[in-house]
Amino acid sequence: MVETKQWKEVKGPLSISLGITALVWLLLFVVVILDPTGHHAGSNELDQAASSTQTLPVTGNAQGPLQGAKGAVKSSGYTPERPRTVPFDFSYAKGSDDLPLDRPPLAKIASEVEPEQIHIALAGEGAMYISWATGNASVVEGLPRIVSRHTLASVVVYGNESGWYDGVASGEATAYVQTYPDFSYISGTFHHVRLTGLQPNASYYFKCGDPGVAMSRELRFATPQPPGPAAFPQRIGVIADLGQTHNSSATLQHLIQSQPPVVLLVGDLTYADNYFTNGTLRPPMTPPKAYQETYQPRWDAWGRFVEPLVPMMVVEGNHEVEADSAGKSFQAYNARYRVPHAESGSDSPLYYSFDLAGSHILMLGAYADWGEGSEQYRWLVADLAAYNRSRTPWLIATFHAPWYNTYIAHYKELECMRIALEPLLYEHGVDIIFAGHVHAYERCNRVYNYTVDPCGPIHVTIGDGGNIEKLYTDWVDQPPSNCPLPGTAACPTLQEGSFCPAQQPPWSAYREPSFGHGILELASTTEATWTWHKNQDSVAVASDTVKIRRNLQCTNQQERRR
Ligand SMILES: [Fe+2]
Repeated sequence: MVETKQWKEVKGPLSISLGITALVWLLLFVVVILDPTGHHAGSNELDQAASSTQTLPVTGNAQGPLQGAKGAVKSSGYTPERPRTVPFDFSYAKGSDDLPLDRPPLAKIASEVEPEQIHIALAGEGAMYISWATGNASVVEGLPRIVSRHTLASVVVYGNESGWYDGVASGEATAYVQTYPDFSYISGTFHHVRLTGLQPNASYYFKCGDPGVAMSRELRFATPQPPGPAAFPQRIGVIADLGQTHNSSATLQHLIQSQPPVVLLVGDLTYADNYFTNGTLRPPMTPPKAYQETYQPRWDAWGRFVEPLVPMMVVEGNHEVEADSAGKSFQAYNARYRVPHAESGSDSPLYYSFDLAGSHILMLGAYADWGEGSEQYRWLVADLAAYNRSRTPWLIATFHAPWYNTYIAHYKELECMRIALEPLLYEHGVDIIFAGHVHAYERCNRVYNYTVDPCGPIHVTIGDGGNIEKLYTDWVDQPPSNCPLPGTAACPTLQEGSFCPAQQPPWSAYREPSFGHGILELASTTEATWTWHKNQDSVAVASDTVKIRRNLQCTNQQERRR
């Protein structure tokens, strides 16, 4: 029997409950009256981030190298959830094959000059990127001699009324060649137009293409509310490791039913690198080569598969690296999508940030250099120094591979990144961290350096988009002999003298191997709800729901005076 609701409010006898409620409101009244900032700091004292039926002792078990992160004062009253595991229901398949390339929605229907693979992305306040593809991509034998063939214009016409376009903007076009000794790929053309001066909270209708040749059908997007401390509520969809299988399709359908106005896709988009260059599937144990074989038409298929959706903000995963035999990496990812990296002061599309309503969202690059002294590290320090909590109270981070993971797959794979960046994110009071990579679901209690910490972020692994590599169903602690050898890890840190926990650790609140998607709803400056919808359920049934309250008792969560 699979549990369907994993979050329960603490409930006591009615009289006690009413008494506590009255006391809460009295305290809230006093705090609101006395607090000129308007923040209800006292509310977190009484109703912490997650409620559960039992209280666990908070164990200080960290023996890792992180010490002395600045800015946090431990608050009392945080109640972590009791760790829970829902094993895989083997009445379901662990995964499915990719959808066929020659059938909708993956097959190419547009002519050579008609726009397809249309993609929308936020591009800074009052701005939106519209991207699309034209031309016929091709796979050719050997090394290609060409190719740049940007003959079509990149134009978007747009307006607030259907069929009436009083705005026009033009942009740029690009293409790439993925080079291999046997079969190389010559891309079509990718067009990118940045619309600026858009009104907030407004609907826009648009067509894209070359006005003298061919334009797309009419599509629509909605702009978000302007960033600010009153910009609530705001819903955000979160997916990762999507791929293009039957399970991926179910995830997309459920995501669409959830109707998030914006989606974060936390890496691993197409899984085109699971194929040989001739398009045949590569068995998992195929010995690696000096370059990464891929079948790039799977990128084109995936572009059709996810079109059209709401603005989708991507960040790279390991499946986007795709180093070809000429030594070029991230070619498909960089050519096909635009992200607001320049708008956020980053010199690389592999890491950037943006504001969305009452949140500041860090899209960090797990596959760009993140070490101290790196460009990304310098950018992150500057971005966090400029972060204005009074404007966007929620601080959210994403990167592809999780730091907190109890599954065998990818266990402590990015431990070096955690050691390098966790103190910085903790110091600045990141509220929630989303990751993918592990093809399953896991949600953590507030944690820092492997210790439940009332001032630490909540980590969520949601690498369960449905890709061809299928679900991961096994944990390092069930049984403990599952624990991999520390020698395989780049940074083999220990907790309580062990590389793996002997049982589900206190920081792991809930774990279950199922495909699905998540919805984060920011309700106010301090309150949010996170819901995980697994594909086996109807969308109306939330498989895991947790209320999140920012802990204003923590100095790292408080506004910094400038
Ligand atoms: Fe991954």
